[in-house]
Amino acid sequence: MENGEFKIPYGKQTIDENDKKAVIEVLDSDYLTTGPKVEEFESALCEYTGAKYAVAVSNGTAALHISSLILLQKGDLVLTTPNSFLATSNSILYVGAKPIFVDIKEDGNINLDKCIEILEKNKNIKALYAVHFSGNPVEMEKLKYIKEKFNIKILEDSAHAIGANYKWRMENGEWRISKIGNCKFSDIATFSFHPVKHITTGEGGAILTNDEEIYKKAKILRNHGMVKENFINKDLAYDKKGNLNPWYYEMQMLGFNYRITDIQCALGLSQLKKLDDFIAKRHQIAKKYDKAFENSIIKPLYPFNKNSAYHLYVVRVDFNKLNITKAELFYKMKEAGIFLQLHYIPINKQPYYKKLGYGKEDLPNMYKYYEEAFSLPIYPSLSEVEQNYVIEKLKENLQ
Ligand SMILES: Cc1ncc(COP(=O)(O)O)c(C=O)c1O
Repeated sequence: MENGEFKIPYGKQTIDENDKKAVIEVLDSDYLTTGPKVEEFESALCEYTGAKYAVAVSNGTAALHISSLILLQKGDLVLTTPNSFLATSNSILYVGAKPIFVDIKEDGNINLDKCIEILEKNKNIKALYAVHFSGNPVEMEKLKYIKEKFNIKILEDSAHAIGANYKWRMENGEWRISKIGNCKFSDIATFSFHPVKHITTGEGGAILTNDEEIYKKAKILRNHGMVKENFINKDLAYDKKGNLNPWYYEMQMLGFNYRITDIQCALGLSQLKKLDDFIAKRHQIAKKYDKAFENSIIKPLYPFNKNSAYHLYVVRVDFNKLNITKAELFYKMKEAGIFLQLHYIPINKQPYYKKLGYGKEDLPNMYKYYEEAFSLPIYPSLSEVEQNYVIEKLKENLQ
């Protein structure tokens, strides 16, 4: 293989003819937005995950923002992970609440035992925002324990984890497998449909919940805080004969335009049908990488886990043992047409967060992870040849 033949990103969408057909059908229809495809997509998400309600929105960040508006009050303290995309904790800041960053475990997920310790000491904590990092669910039995014992709000940022499964124990002691997003032990789960995620709508996101009140509020906040029923201003809503004024709408909350289009939802519906196949392909690639790196300096973040949706395939390398630095490795791999990525820079170290007083937290696992970790290409259309090429180039540079 010659350098220059390849351009391999860490993640990429998979679009086929059926996806294109689905989009064109909407373009030929009466509704480009606020039409039937939005509700169809929401129903399909409920059916897939097992959640009662879904609200599809313009992106994953909007899903988090709406969720924070519903779950949090100004000044609330919220436990969350430093190992995520900025949007998770930003959504806490958007509503004037305060993230508290908790260290991670070896698998990159938030340390829920640490969360329990903190919750036992500090009764003022109002919520926990967990991220199923890389698609590998957090320990759901512990999430359940936290929900039951501390009665705080729980949000699962599931941007990495649509299609992931988790095991949980029923009251009769039997184990069950459920889909991430069914909100069995949380108030809300959110998804992102950005092109690097498992399924895409271009930009897009969703809020999943089993709580009817949350569902109703999320729908209103998605559309400017506007309602078309249960009016407060009776004098403006009805004429003197008691007829409803047909033009009337009412703003009862400060909402946003976080709507998603029918074009996007048609794409999402078509993609969702293929989600399990996409994940099967990701599993094949993860297994191949695992095997290729056996007994080498390249350590997969966790041994193969069939419940993970493998949005990311993260490895760790102790660069102290090598002459090459992580930056040099990224440049070398880029020259070979392979674009590595790092998920993530500790959020508490971002200058904006430092200005707010963050940055000095004792998070040894997160800081060590930042030194060692990086993400390899993984997506359904990554060919065998490309997978072999990534493995070969990585090993060559890390000798
Ligand atoms: C963990 C996590 N949360 C939230 C988001 C935000 O999603 P979006 O890009 O759709 O706004 C992302 C996307 O990168 C993410 O990875």
